[in-house]
Amino acid sequence: NLMDRETASQVRGIALFKSTCDYWNKIWDFQAKPDDVLISSYPKAGTTWLQEIVDMIHNDGDVEKTRRAPINIRMPFIERINSRYVGLDQANAMPSPRFLKTHLPVQLLPPSFWKENCKIIYVARNIKDNMVSYFHFQRMHKGFPDPGSWEEYFETFLEGKGLWGSWYDHVKRWWEAKDTYPILYLFYEDIKKHPRREIEKVMEFLGKNLDEKVLDKIVYYTSFNVMKNNPMSNYTFEPLMNHSVSPFMRKGVIGDWKTHFTVAQNERCNEDYREKMADTMLSFSMEY
Ligand code: PPS
Repeated sequence: NLMDRETASQVRGIALFKSTCDYWNKIWDFQAKPDDVLISSYPKAGTTWLQEIVDMIHNDGDVEKTRRAPINIRMPFIERINSRYVGLDQANAMPSPRFLKTHLPVQLLPPSFWKENCKIIYVARNIKDNMVSYFHFQRMHKGFPDPGSWEEYFETFLEGKGLWGSWYDHVKRWWEAKDTYPILYLFYEDIKKHPRREIEKVMEFLGKNLDEKVLDKIVYYTSFNVMKNNPMSNYTFEPLMNHSVSPFMRKGVIGDWKTHFTVAQNERCNEDYREKMADTMLSFSMEY
């Protein structure tokens, strides 16, 4: 039902849901606590995957505990303030230690997170796969604006006009922030290729020490096929998503952009990428 689709508005030039903009002062004033752990990402970069990894580590690999509730209830989405979502109000009411989710760009993160020096884990994904995943997500999620055709979406994405703003600004500015704040910056592609090594990094960052067997278990329970079939992590609990249009756990691979980009789109994206990434040390391999 198209009536369900929420419109976007803007905060300091960044497109966000209208409900987020309407209550922006309340979100900006969010009070973080020193032991909060924040999971941050541009939408569709691997947020849910990282959330499940973090929760499994926190629960020492206990699958039953990790499956106590749907992922959105376990980790509220701080900039959501709409009765249809688990967001700011639930985060405020949650007992510590809290694990929270955001897609906000660095400059819009509530300042208390910096003041309290909270641990933040950021995950970035290569621009092409991130774009493809976001396109399918906007098709299947009835709360999001309609993405239009793939050709239209490709332009919207590169121009940074989509919800949560420009992919470039997001990944670059979070990359800069990690030099000043306790931020573990991860890449989707690394987790995919070396899950155990990357999960160990998260474990160390969280100050945990789990034995080899527990780590193996976490690698298994956070793999794509297991998460796709886990009703507490695959978003089948979310009434606004229509998984028959495109499942939330869609493909979970590196390089699916190759089945979407035309040769001309690929060249245009490469050129745009070279231009907009010229001012950063952050790099993604373009051979994915
Ligand atoms: S959201 O809505 O922003 O929270 O979405 P997000 O979780 O960031 O991104 C969803 C994409 O991540 C893929 N995914 C995984 N890939 C590999 N392994 C695991 N375990 C995993 N879990 C989620 C998911 O399939 C989406 O990517 P695409 O390319 O669309 O399949």
